[in-house]
Amino acid sequence: MYDFTTPAAQHVADSLKWRKYAGRDVLPLWVADMDFLSPPVVTAALAARVAQGIFAYGEPTETAVGALLAAARRDYDWTIEPNWLVPLPGLVTGLNVACRASGDGDVITATPIYPPFMSAPQFAERRLIRLPLRETRPDTGSHWEWDFDALDAVATRGATLMLCHPHNPVGRQWTPAELQRLGELAEKHDLTVISDEIHCDLLLEPGARHTPFAAISPKLAARTITLMAPSKTYNVPGLGCAFAVIPNAERRHAFQKTMRGIVPHVNLLGYVALEAACRDGMAWRSELLSVLRSNRDEVVRALDGHNGLRVTVPQATFLAWVDCRDAGLQHPQHFFEQAGVGLSDGADFGAPGFVRLNFGCPRTTLDSALARMRKALATL
Ligand SMILES: Cc1ncc(COP(=O)(O)O)c(C=O)c1O
Repeated sequence: MYDFTTPAAQHVADSLKWRKYAGRDVLPLWVADMDFLSPPVVTAALAARVAQGIFAYGEPTETAVGALLAAARRDYDWTIEPNWLVPLPGLVTGLNVACRASGDGDVITATPIYPPFMSAPQFAERRLIRLPLRETRPDTGSHWEWDFDALDAVATRGATLMLCHPHNPVGRQWTPAELQRLGELAEKHDLTVISDEIHCDLLLEPGARHTPFAAISPKLAARTITLMAPSKTYNVPGLGCAFAVIPNAERRHAFQKTMRGIVPHVNLLGYVALEAACRDGMAWRSELLSVLRSNRDEVVRALDGHNGLRVTVPQATFLAWVDCRDAGLQHPQHFFEQAGVGLSDGADFGAPGFVRLNFGCPRTTLDSALARMRKALATL
């Protein structure tokens, strides 16, 4: 019913992803936005708002907040009070503010990880503890888990734990049992938890449901700063609209105080997109998930086991984590770029020898990219 076949992003002049390789025959499968058109309900709501012709400083309307709260109840069975919300122009802003507003002790982050999880603690002048996820190797790809014993051992009292839920780049949807265990350790060591849930509406298994970390219990909610946004799911990252959910008043005030004078108002078109997506985006999202599931399966089929590559099968996100350590490549990202496919370098995520492949694109683009990668590997 919706268009997931027209390669939309390459036709716009201002796409960061496509501009990187402008004038070169390189298919960009790197930065995490999708090449699909946004849902028609979102585009129509934006067009109607643009037609009003006035773009004052924005405030979230009652209807936007209402749509957001209703979506949280519908999708996660999570009741959010309106006063827990703090609007933000982006999730990375939220990660940095949260690191600066949650004490000065250690910050623990599980690697490999989206790079701002390593830079935000450093910008906040806090000691960063990298805790490697534990890798096991099932028949296909790799499986990644928290090392709870190691977390228990490194956690210092009052530290901050950064959770990426689902986890970019390994695509894990953390289970309620895993969240529960993290919660026990958070209680034991009196941790603040920053939970980045930007990918939580991109669960690829049919019928899968997201459990926000803060929804596990009111006690855990009180120590958690949850960060969310419509940007990944509905492909509107350029509209700069995200939010924090901070139930505990003291933590929320510390967060807001840290934002003062630095963090700008949210783009009002972002609120318009958020409202339309939360209220009316379900049918589009469900088709998107089928397309992504099929693309994911194709990436695994085409690359896993090919010339020593191992593809972690993502349970969520539109990102595949590819282990090239056994493929005999000096620098995998350069190698595939030379072959005409622009991927993200695993080294930026704390894991040299890996690449991250963005499969949020029409099948024709993906098929060309996978064919180029296989052809290049065949020459080794
Ligand atoms: C886990 C995670 N958090 C945050 C972001 C970026 O968020 P924003 O563009 O809202 O700053 C990304 C983008 O890839 C991400 O994967």
